[in-house]
Amino acid sequence: MKNLIAASILSANLTNLEQSIHECEQAGVDWIHVDAMDGHFVPNLTMGPVMVDACRQATSLPIDCHLMIEKPELLVPVFAKAGANTITIHPENNPNVHRTLGLIRDVGCVPGIALNPGTSADLIEPLLPFIDMILIMTVNPGFSGQSFIPQMLTKVARVAELIVREERPIRLEVDGGINAENIASLASAGADTFVSASAIFTHPKGILGGVSALRNALK
Ligand code: DX5
Ligand code: ZN
Repeated sequence: MKNLIAASILSANLTNLEQSIHECEQAGVDWIHVDAMDGHFVPNLTMGPVMVDACRQATSLPIDCHLMIEKPELLVPVFAKAGANTITIHPENNPNVHRTLGLIRDVGCVPGIALNPGTSADLIEPLLPFIDMILIMTVNPGFSGQSFIPQMLTKVARVAELIVREERPIRLEVDGGINAENIASLASAGADTFVSASAIFTHPKGILGGVSALRNALK
């Protein structure tokens, strides 16, 4: 599957979001990643459908929505209406995951499951027929700028094996502390979609420099 780079706007210049997104487009970013946090599932409060709508007005790139919120089913239709393309939910706080995944499909979005670092890879098995994407968190969710947890490499490899057995194209996304030093090892383990906030938006050579460094490391 083609390698994709998703820019998490959590570290973008939010005083000039349109400019940041246009620079991402020019740098060849594939997806815009929106981190929705509710202050309950994670200890941070960030962005919601209003921000997805603002991104939608600024770009036609796919918008990848990562919901780190309680009761995501209540907001899935609103995220979809705002312009979300993929919607990824966490199973850790959701006793009715299949129903929420079905809802994501019903509103016309691509459903994904995100696993926190402490959540077993095996939990994904009964969900595989219902998703088109798996997101492996490589930090504890909540903030950008945290350090990659190296033990997640074996988890990525394990999930990649489960995907092969499923015999269906399912994207394998990684998120948290991804940079030019670790991206190639994640690709070797089986990841194909790479989320980054700090390595793109705080790169000393700007957004273009950050994206180029990631792409070059993937070659
Ligand atoms: C963390 C978010 C990430 C975050 C990544 O909870 O899900 O998408 O923005 O930031 P970096 O790339 O700086 O670790
Ligand atoms: Zn994220």
